[in-house]
Amino acid sequence: MNEILIRGRVLTFLAEPQGIDDTASYRYIEDGAVFVRDGKIVEIGSYGDMSKLVRSNTKLADHRPNLILPGFIDTHLHFPQTQAIASYGAQLLEWLNTYIFVEEQKFARAAHAAEVADRFMDELLSNGTTTAVAYCSVHPESVDAYFAAAEARGMCMIGGKVMMDRNAPDALRDTPQQGYDETKRLIERWHGRGRAHYAISPRFAITSTPGQMDMSKALVAEHPDCYVQTHLSENRDEIAFATSLYPEAKDYTDIYARYGLLNSRMLLGHCIHMSAREVAVLAETGAVGVFCPTSNLFLGSGLFNAAQFDRLGARWSVATDVGAGTSFSMLETMDEAYKVLHLQGQRLTPFNSFYRMTRGNALALGLEKRIGSLQAGADADIVVLDSTAKSAMEFRMRTATSLAEELFILQTMGDDRCVAEVYVAGKAMKTRKPKAVLRESLQLA
Ligand code: GUN
Ligand code: ZN
Repeated sequence: MNEILIRGRVLTFLAEPQGIDDTASYRYIEDGAVFVRDGKIVEIGSYGDMSKLVRSNTKLADHRPNLILPGFIDTHLHFPQTQAIASYGAQLLEWLNTYIFVEEQKFARAAHAAEVADRFMDELLSNGTTTAVAYCSVHPESVDAYFAAAEARGMCMIGGKVMMDRNAPDALRDTPQQGYDETKRLIERWHGRGRAHYAISPRFAITSTPGQMDMSKALVAEHPDCYVQTHLSENRDEIAFATSLYPEAKDYTDIYARYGLLNSRMLLGHCIHMSAREVAVLAETGAVGVFCPTSNLFLGSGLFNAAQFDRLGARWSVATDVGAGTSFSMLETMDEAYKVLHLQGQRLTPFNSFYRMTRGNALALGLEKRIGSLQAGADADIVVLDSTAKSAMEFRMRTATSLAEELFILQTMGDDRCVAEVYVAGKAMKTRKPKAVLRESLQLA
């Protein structure tokens, strides 16, 4: 039996905060601890109470005065774009053609996919992200590399091969049948293996013919427990192009609705330029709009309207969208989210930000019993945050008088340097020896 007691200031959310004073929406324990056995949380409480559970072989991890939260969750990013972040000067369609469709061709080589997958998982972990939903490339080998790297670290990860059969270079196109067959094989191999979940991934309406959308519909019907992910209404030129390819559809959202893709396991990246009708369709079907603020600013796509989603009762989550997103850090992502909403006269309280990165995103994935909260029975995916990691933060923190203020400082000034430790199923991952270093030392031996 493997036991560890993780001590620090414990913070976990119970419900969506209804304002900056909503103290009932979270549990905060000043001298708290999380008791973990064999990768699962047994109990959380005061250190005094939790220390009664300690036995001779229980390890102690004293993180005082740092904060202990559930690991962050990122609901949309692209693993093959890890090395294409910061590609200059273009809006969506030109950016895809100039940079991304060139970069993704490298993933035909399994060795390249494996190398990037290792870097990708380690980057997520060093930013405190313990679960993510990613697109792989069109190559099945990229999916194998992705889930193998996640499995080696014990991470709960969601992903899938993109399907594209038009408007992409030859080397990145599959066919409707090939996309279907390869997706089926990958679902059989990976979905439900350990902590892996598969996401059926037609990239977007522009790169899938009606034939491929039919195949996506069949896959979704045959695998209702898999996730589905695509892109929707990110950019004006994209919307015009997509709707011209499906003239029978009422609007962009209706394209996906007609192919039976909208359900509560569907994640739709961006959803920026949406009519009330379209958001209402998401609300009806339970599909989730994914807010990707750093990406939306970087590509000049527009401003996600969270208030419209809330008003119409539609679900939304938050994500980095690396590599159009400019950081793996969910803290930096929420910093930009705050500004995007502020520009529209909307408010995102610090409690709401931290709720969104943890329990909110877990609810969007239907995984709230397993991840996103520090609660008995959940997986021990945990992030430890140091609000004084940078000298400017340390100086600013001297004047902070409330938890809300501390969280806002973390979000506004913080990045991976504030992640003091990250636990995946109870195992410390940030301070472990990086894999690349291990390999080098093995070669020397
Ligand atoms: N739409 C279709 N593919 C992509 C992608 O890779 N990134 C972004 N931001 N939007 C997309
Ligand atoms: Zn995307």
